[in-house]
Amino acid sequence: MIKVIFVCLGNICRSPMAEAVFRDLTVKAKLDRYISVDSAGTGNWHVGEPPHEGTLSILRKHHIPTEGLIGRVITEEDIRENDYIIAMDESNVRNIKALAGKNDAHKIHLLLDFLPDEDIREVPDPYYTGNFEYVYNLIRRASEALLHHIKDKEKLNAS
Ligand code: 4NP
Repeated sequence: MIKVIFVCLGNICRSPMAEAVFRDLTVKAKLDRYISVDSAGTGNWHVGEPPHEGTLSILRKHHIPTEGLIGRVITEEDIRENDYIIAMDESNVRNIKALAGKNDAHKIHLLLDFLPDEDIREVPDPYYTGNFEYVYNLIRRASEALLHHIKDKEKLNAS
């Protein structure tokens, strides 16, 4: 199993949105048998909570399942066990690196590294901007590029 975890600050806006969008892509590509998807936050304010209503409503609008999204904090075990640790912004990367051993540093990426032509490097936080539609669009396009990257790199074929 190839294990992917998306990470943001609160685990109620961006990373659960990415988890749901990316999982939906793996299901549609018939790759969900090979790729597991999860999310977590670096902060603990929203542990045990469902995603923000803005994230839930944008996912529902795009017919993406929202079951099983519950706020939690990333652990050292998550970092050891996941193959792709995908952060929303640079502060998430710093916080993850502070938990990660040297051998795991290569697994940490910014989500927007997979959209190299985009003129921003960080996914803006809709908790503060309120712009869930814009963030959905970015996450959707970057998730498609990430899946493409993983399929290539891991030599996955749907079956
Ligand atoms: P997220 O957004 O990192 O995309 O889930 C946030 C959600 C909550 C808070 C900060 C960011 N907060 O400070 O409670």
